[in-house]
Amino acid sequence: MNGILAEIQGYIHEKLDRERYRHSLGVMDVSRKLAICHGEDPERAALAGILHDCGKHCSDADAIARLQAVGYAFNLVERFEPELLHGQIGAMIAREHFHVTDPGILSAIACHTTGKTGMSLLDKIVYIADYIEPGREGDWVYPLRRVAYQDLDRCLVMCADSTMTFVMRKGKPIHPDTVHMRNEILMTVTRQGQGQEAE
Ligand SMILES: [Fe+2]
Ligand SMILES: [Fe+2]
Repeated sequence: MNGILAEIQGYIHEKLDRERYRHSLGVMDVSRKLAICHGEDPERAALAGILHDCGKHCSDADAIARLQAVGYAFNLVERFEPELLHGQIGAMIAREHFHVTDPGILSAIACHTTGKTGMSLLDKIVYIADYIEPGREGDWVYPLRRVAYQDLDRCLVMCADSTMTFVMRKGKPIHPDTVHMRNEILMTVTRQGQGQEAE
């Protein structure tokens, strides 16, 4: 595993800017820590974490062309904001360039930008690690960091709220997968809370 991590580190060092490179290493570390905390395989998490933004260097036109070639079904928001496709492109690079075949790792890379319904433990870990890695600064991140090690679902709702507020403030459309993910997890968290109250 260390060999492939070193190879990927070289790739992202070459392809991504300095800040994004550091961010990728931060997401790798936090993914590993969250995996240990929540019972996921830390090496799978590290691999997904370091790869999550490996598609970030593709231009919008290149991303669209590559996904079109494999028959990807774009939605309206992705056509409007092709930047949102870098997770899908990252999964493609992970598979084609680094020969990653683990569908769970590919899924975590693909959905880290928007989230999706039915997220696995690994999907949630990488999504949250992307949000809370040490390079993220500001008062908003402290509560997320605390909750991430206590309750992944509650943290996921907080991340989705933060993303949706940010995107709305910028006057941009919200990806439907983010809305569906938030609704699904929010309802789960709410039901769990009601169950605890009833006990
Ligand atoms: Fe990303
Ligand atoms: Fe990222």
